[in-house]
Amino acid sequence: MRVVLFGPPGAGKGTQAKAISDRFGIPHLSTGDMLRAARVAGTDIGRKAAEAMDKGSLVPDDVMVGVIEERTRAPDCKNGFLLDGFPRTEGQADALAAMLTRNSSKIDAVVSLDVPDDLLLDRLVGRWTCPKDGSSYHEVNLRPRKVGVCDLCETPLVQRPDDKADAIKHRLNVFHQQTDPLKRRYEREGLLRGVRGVGSPDEVRSRIQQALGA
Ligand code: AP5
Repeated sequence: MRVVLFGPPGAGKGTQAKAISDRFGIPHLSTGDMLRAARVAGTDIGRKAAEAMDKGSLVPDDVMVGVIEERTRAPDCKNGFLLDGFPRTEGQADALAAMLTRNSSKIDAVVSLDVPDDLLLDRLVGRWTCPKDGSSYHEVNLRPRKVGVCDLCETPLVQRPDDKADAIKHRLNVFHQQTDPLKRRYEREGLLRGVRGVGSPDEVRSRIQQALGA
């Protein structure tokens, strides 16, 4: 099963990914999480990505394609993977298609989480993230059991530098200009599964499972 989890910043991709990944027994590959880990580790890629990420701009395609090519070669991706945050441009979608063709495989479904922009802004300004395992919380909608710490690993939660109002607005513009048009491509290819991303996380999860026939 090779699934793309698609949607604007704050649509709930990270929140929903674990359930899909558990359901199908496939690893969750979040390019945002990989870049943040690379920054913490101080690698070349992390340094190259830092400025673009903090502003809410996209990291260049060649860097991202390299990251995904390397990660999907790992043994845990043999039976599939869940892509979150990739592809984000036509160039990345072309590179993904070429890479899968070379490996005689293909994407099975693109799940698109649809949420209006005003709700996305509200979700992102209130988000708190675990820097260790990447899980997301919200100060109103999805509070951690203990204030300020991750439910899973008890690490203190942080706010992402790109979750400031200006960076969020820029990220939404970038999404509408460069990423959203990919929906038409995947619709033409018969892969797109549109899912309403408004409602409780549990409601959205069951819509996704329905869309994937799970
Ligand atoms: P990335 O980390 O991928 O960020 P994003 O796509 O902007 O997505 P987010 O992580 O912000 O949102 P999400 O959809 O996962 O929402 P979440 O579940 O957390 O990328 C960051 C940066 O890295 C990019 O800007 C770019 O610079 C770079 N990058 C990454 N990939 C790249 C690529 N392929 N090419 C180029 N550059 C790349 O939920 C958000 C909040 O809402 C949380 O607080 C959550 O608790 C809450 N919430 C979730 N679901 C619900 C619900 N149903 N109801 C109420 N609240 C909810």
